[in-house]
Amino acid sequence: MIVKPLTPLFGAEVSGINLCAPLSSEQINRLIQIIDEFAVVVFPDQPLTDDQHVAFAESLGPLEKEAAVVSVEQQRLAHSQMIDISNLDVDGAILTADDRRRMFNLGNQLWHSDSSFKTIPALYSMLHARVIPPEGGDTQFADMRNAWDRLPEAMQTQIESYLCDHSLIYSRALLGFDAFTEKEMVAFTPQPQRLTRRHPGSKRKCLFLSSHIGVVHDLPRPEGMMLIRELIEHATEKEFIYTHKWKVNDLVLWDNRCTMHRARPFNDQKYKRDMRRMTLADSASTLDQLV
Ligand SMILES: [Fe+2]
Repeated sequence: MIVKPLTPLFGAEVSGINLCAPLSSEQINRLIQIIDEFAVVVFPDQPLTDDQHVAFAESLGPLEKEAAVVSVEQQRLAHSQMIDISNLDVDGAILTADDRRRMFNLGNQLWHSDSSFKTIPALYSMLHARVIPPEGGDTQFADMRNAWDRLPEAMQTQIESYLCDHSLIYSRALLGFDAFTEKEMVAFTPQPQRLTRRHPGSKRKCLFLSSHIGVVHDLPRPEGMMLIRELIEHATEKEFIYTHKWKVNDLVLWDNRCTMHRARPFNDQKYKRDMRRMTLADSASTLDQLV
């Protein structure tokens, strides 16, 4: 495997490995080392089928059991655990401007960590590019270990033991989207998580931020939300982020424990974009992990 760092802080491009074929335990161990160090790993030119994508994900750990999506009955992809990050309907046509899946998916353009709103959040996400628009649609990443390191010590001390509630309802409310069904409201019940955590692979302390946060425990709500807004701005300052410009058959893997990401806009009423994501579950809630 050839490892090429993408920024001075985090992110690497890895070549010399074929993700379409089963990996040896040596390759998997080496990959996990690379992920622990770089947090975001780009694998160019991996023409994976859906089955190969699922097999690669499963070789790295247990999959998330349920996809958190709206309009579950309109799943386009064959694997129920594969998340459809596209602007396409079940027939492959572009979603209309007022389609609720489109409006819901616009929330992916807010900085977040995948599934931070679940009791057990996501470990790795693996996003594969099948069809990309000619312009726009980049994905940006920020390293939450670096964000922690750069905080003034007084702030670190203040926020270290804070707990926050996360929900898809909170992130979508930022965009004015509140058209959830009763069933979805129950499925997206807010879940508590620590605001800071320790990344076990690198042993580094990190912020656990996400636009899914809607409450900071023991603070008046506006004060808590202002703090979260400040921290997200701090964590995503331009000079510290990596912007991935997609090519077809890129597979990008990121560690949700120590990064945030967001999608960037593109003309989704004109161009098709078909990305597919597999996600691994972490081993426990952040409440049950060492800090
Ligand atoms: Fe995401």
